[in-house]
Amino acid sequence: MHASPLLGSFAPGGTALVVGAGGIGSALADRLTASPRFDRVVVACRAPETAAERMAAAGDTIPVDAVAVDVLDEISVRSLAGHVQAIDRPLRLIICATGILHRGADLKPERRLEDITPDALAQVFAVNAFGPMLIAKHLVPLLPRRDRSVFAAISARVGSIGDNRLGGWYAYRASKAALNQFMKCTAIELKRRIPGAIVAALHPGTVDTGLSEPFRAGVPERKLFSPAYSAERLLDVIDRLDAEDSGGFFAWDGSRIPW
Ligand SMILES: NC(=O)c1ccc[n+]([C@@H]2O[C@H](COP(=O)([O-])OP(=O)(O)OC[C@H]3O[C@@H](n4cnc5c(N)ncnc54)[C@H](OP(=O)(O)O)[C@@H]3O)[C@@H](O)[C@H]2O)c1
Repeated sequence: MHASPLLGSFAPGGTALVVGAGGIGSALADRLTASPRFDRVVVACRAPETAAERMAAAGDTIPVDAVAVDVLDEISVRSLAGHVQAIDRPLRLIICATGILHRGADLKPERRLEDITPDALAQVFAVNAFGPMLIAKHLVPLLPRRDRSVFAAISARVGSIGDNRLGGWYAYRASKAALNQFMKCTAIELKRRIPGAIVAALHPGTVDTGLSEPFRAGVPERKLFSPAYSAERLLDVIDRLDAEDSGGFFAWDGSRIPW
């Protein structure tokens, strides 16, 4: 990794795409729109009206498009690609910040084998692993062939097999491990097809969002990041990635995480 002023590694005047407008996705979009490096920021999520209202209230300095996408619906992902392709600015950065850990009473991280259900496994794998790959399928081919660009997906340290000391959270851990493998495959394919593109799986730290909210009891306050702080750190990592980092798994501080 090299040193760089924030986002200085990207050629000016491109488009940045953030998929997912949850806690971390929104903070990433806010940071990107506050930087003069990109001419256009596209935020793709399931509730684009809400995202547009939030960003208008934040007084963003560069044009932002809020576009509807459900990463489980390939037609909507294809239509997002059409939207991005129609923008007269090259796409230089894609960050997929969608994900699921829990939903309502019937989808909770498993503590033991008896908690496993095929429905929860299927839902969590679909959102955390298949969703970012549909984004890759339709959006990554739009990256410029030679200029530096980045495709990053927000993974999670608990997806590391080498770092797994506690067990549990079967669906979430395994779906993030699958995502990491998908990202590695994408990096290998792009080395030939789009040599300027760098692919990375990123761990954002433990961040104060709806996703982590029920599981923070043991997290010391100084280790619970605000979404804004995590977004700043993640963009710094993205900015410092070199071609040889492509296919890697990195934490918010730039350190490599074992597979
Ligand atoms: N927070 C943490 O401590 C932490 C730690 C490690 C990794 N992560 C990872 O960071 C990423 C962002 O999480 P977060 O903390 O920002 O949580 P969050 O606030 O819950 O955001 C997750 C977002 O994913 C979106 N999403 C889920 N299913 C989707 C679908 N089918 N199509 C489109 N969007 C979908 C949700 O959209 P809706 O708003 O429409 O439901 C939500 O906005 C996730 O991949 C998560 O696993 C978070």
